[in-house]
Amino acid sequence: MAHDSAHDSTASAATSEAAGARAPAAAPAPSRPARITVPWVRSRKVADGADPLVMVTAYDAPGARIADDAGVDMILVGDSLAMVVLGYDDTLSVTVEDMAHHTAAVARARPSALVVGDLPWMSYHVSVEETVRNAAQLIRAGAQCVKLEGGSKRLTMIEALIDAEIPVMGHLGLTPQSMHAMGGFRVQAKESEAALALVADAKALAHAGCFAIVLEGVPDEVARMVTDAVDVPTIGIGAGPRCDGQVLVYHDLLGLEDRTPAKFVRRYADLKQASVAAVGEFVADVRGGAFPDHAESYHLDSAQAEALSLYGAAVD
Ligand code: KIV
Repeated sequence: MAHDSAHDSTASAATSEAAGARAPAAAPAPSRPARITVPWVRSRKVADGADPLVMVTAYDAPGARIADDAGVDMILVGDSLAMVVLGYDDTLSVTVEDMAHHTAAVARARPSALVVGDLPWMSYHVSVEETVRNAAQLIRAGAQCVKLEGGSKRLTMIEALIDAEIPVMGHLGLTPQSMHAMGGFRVQAKESEAALALVADAKALAHAGCFAIVLEGVPDEVARMVTDAVDVPTIGIGAGPRCDGQVLVYHDLLGLEDRTPAKFVRRYADLKQASVAAVGEFVADVRGGAFPDHAESYHLDSAQAEALSLYGAAVD
């Protein structure tokens, strides 16, 4: 059941009054709504007392249910889809149609987490009209907002999206869609000039109305400068602990792949190994005649078995 944070605040204020409690000195942080909204995320600065935001990627309904049951605040249907699900070497090959297909699968899980649809490469680079139409396709598929990569040069598109009532999450630093321009997946803003440019980009995105900004692959100190410089939450991935939240790719944190993870990935499970072992047992059971057994099979009743002259056959 969805209700908003204003409702929550009103309810807790009424409870305090009834109990004769004094009004707190500072307004209490709004409690977590049953369905996460863009304004709620927008308000979650750690410096203001908020808990860090948690975002994880998901690309299908079971993944979304797992992430949601674990209590994440946001589910990003990332264009990492290309690499971790569709088998491409980079993110450049996914299309708006691919992203919409997977966004719809995530949305069908009806998560209470905010669903963020990632705009793929070339979907917001050509014209304002194409950008808004492509973002609308993700919103119609079930996203509540979109994410796009890049700084000041994206302002026109960001403003057009916000003008069309589509909330936008920014993404700065190591932006994988710029891999050729960056010469690979490289940590960004390592020099002071680039660090200051990144801070300026973040301020420009926040000023344009982005409700949160992903910071990927930047030094911890630079992420802290950005976090201190903007009044919208920063969500880090390979950006150290001094952000307002963290995001990891689902397949990385669950160990669903066995390729060497990036330095910033912490693996919380080894599901690739566990899955290979489980499927391996199935293979052995089938080849050894141990699967399926009597209880895993359907059976005729004895009268039908007799009518078919199956005397001696096993029946329920
Ligand atoms: O596509 C993705 O998974 C992302 C995250 C790495 C932030 O953009």
